[in-house]
Amino acid sequence: MRIAIASDHGGFPLKQELVPFIRSLGHTVQDLGVHSQEPSDYPDAAEKLGLAIRSGEVDRGLLLCGSGIGAVMAANRMEGIRAGVGHDCYSARQGVEHDDMNVLALGARVIGIELARDAVKAFLAARFVPEERYRRRLGKMEDLGKRYGPGSWEKKEGA
Ligand code: RB5
Repeated sequence: MRIAIASDHGGFPLKQELVPFIRSLGHTVQDLGVHSQEPSDYPDAAEKLGLAIRSGEVDRGLLLCGSGIGAVMAANRMEGIRAGVGHDCYSARQGVEHDDMNVLALGARVIGIELARDAVKAFLAARFVPEERYRRRLGKMEDLGKRYGPGSWEKKEGA
């Protein structure tokens, strides 16, 4: 598969470990940075990765920050991106099989390298199971975005 990987400074050390690992599994890897631990912003990493997926240049992505949380929140703002945090093999696999997850987010300050490798391996080996119930749920998720997406909410004072 064609894989892109991106991180902020918090995810950088894990990215450096995962790039050769993913290549060793036989996948091609586009490393979209960052390339140092100089402070950077996770939405920038999410945007680069999301664009690579949306353009069709790559099939799936890995997005790394300190916790995985900011990265996944940012990535899911981009239509066509279905990102999830998967700090265990079950979630990393099932996120693809049931939810068609195309971006796995990991927190470099949360997960150790061995579990990260196993979770990435599970994510990359998994395939979406096109059963009606999974398609229906994905369709409902798209509908949520249409009904409650940008411009649909006027924030109340104090909310
Ligand atoms: C950066 O310090 C950190 O806030 C970021 O990597 C991430 O954990 C945010 O969710």
